[in-house]
Amino acid sequence: MAGKRVLVREDLNVPMAGGAIADDSRVRAAAPTLQHLAQRGARVVVMSHLGRPKDREAELSLKPVAGDLGRRIGREVRFAEDCVGEQAMSAVDALQSGQVLLLENVRYHKEDEANDAAFARQLASLGDLFVNDAFAASHRAHASVVGVASYLPAYAGELMEAELDALHRALDNPRRPMVAVVGGAKVSTKVGVLKTLLARVDSLLIGGAMANTFFKAKGWPTGGGLVEETALEEASEVAKAGGEKLILPVDLVCARKMEAGEALRVMEADKIEPGWMALDIGPKTIRLFSQRLRGAGTVIWNGPLGVAEIRDFSDGTRAVGEAIAGSGGFTLVGGGDTVAAIESLGLAGRFSWVSTGGGATLEYLEGKELPGIAILKEA
Ligand code: 3PG
Repeated sequence: MAGKRVLVREDLNVPMAGGAIADDSRVRAAAPTLQHLAQRGARVVVMSHLGRPKDREAELSLKPVAGDLGRRIGREVRFAEDCVGEQAMSAVDALQSGQVLLLENVRYHKEDEANDAAFARQLASLGDLFVNDAFAASHRAHASVVGVASYLPAYAGELMEAELDALHRALDNPRRPMVAVVGGAKVSTKVGVLKTLLARVDSLLIGGAMANTFFKAKGWPTGGGLVEETALEEASEVAKAGGEKLILPVDLVCARKMEAGEALRVMEADKIEPGWMALDIGPKTIRLFSQRLRGAGTVIWNGPLGVAEIRDFSDGTRAVGEAIAGSGGFTLVGGGDTVAAIESLGLAGRFSWVSTGGGATLEYLEGKELPGIAILKEA
């Protein structure tokens, strides 16, 4: 390992606000692999994407991330202004054993997303071996995730291993009862996940705006609430497949507008009045969900139960989050919005595993094979 150039794909796709990192969970999660490689004397070359740049958009530069990453791993992180070509190569050549270099956003080159073979070969020329630690980007068959593995010996990083261990533990040999809590706005993006989970869990608790679509599919009034009209049939199918396992909210916190400071009323789920919209689960639902969660052996949670970013509509997400954390089971939380919610509601640090993945975690839960993981198995 000492002196070897180790090319590591991380997912440092962090939310930025005004040139600074708004949430550095992914930087923290990436740190152990990089720290351990550097301690073992590797010359560590880190690549990542940030956002979805159309060209070299300055606000999607990874440069500000280098400083934060350096503080996390306790050593300087150098930065190369490009991820391939002369600049990248000379920065890598200058690296000493134990030093770390972060390359500029791989998506500044459209060849990354195209999984272009020549581009993958250029990236691969910067390392002697490849480590994929970017679980959160492993549902993307891109050059920096998949392509490079054709040219270098490829391994899983520590974060990747920890993510897969947690998912395996929750899904493949769960302690029962197993409960899944799924929220968020859309049914359509989660139909596959809902169906796969229903085949495994003992209870599936649904909240968030997606519950409205289930209500509408039953013919219940949904007032001014967000309904995904094109997903009514899918919601009916899921409800039918779920039978008694699928548990919908029985009451809801409603307002006339999705704004802080509005008058609030709790309404029965089948009696939402015109002009009102459901924005959080109600107190009876919190009790119902908490009962199901008490003593659960395994809990998987994805998606807030209401508009958790607005204080007035965050009680349901907080209370259910508390119930999950206190269930006594193995608790796995995934999805960008859910992670943001647990941070802002003071629930961070109370779950067995918080996945760094958004789309990747959903695809995994759906039972899909992620290309960035499949290539490691082949290797
Ligand atoms: C994510 O945030 O889910 C990953 O970093 C993948 O990003 P992408 O959806 O832009 O590929």
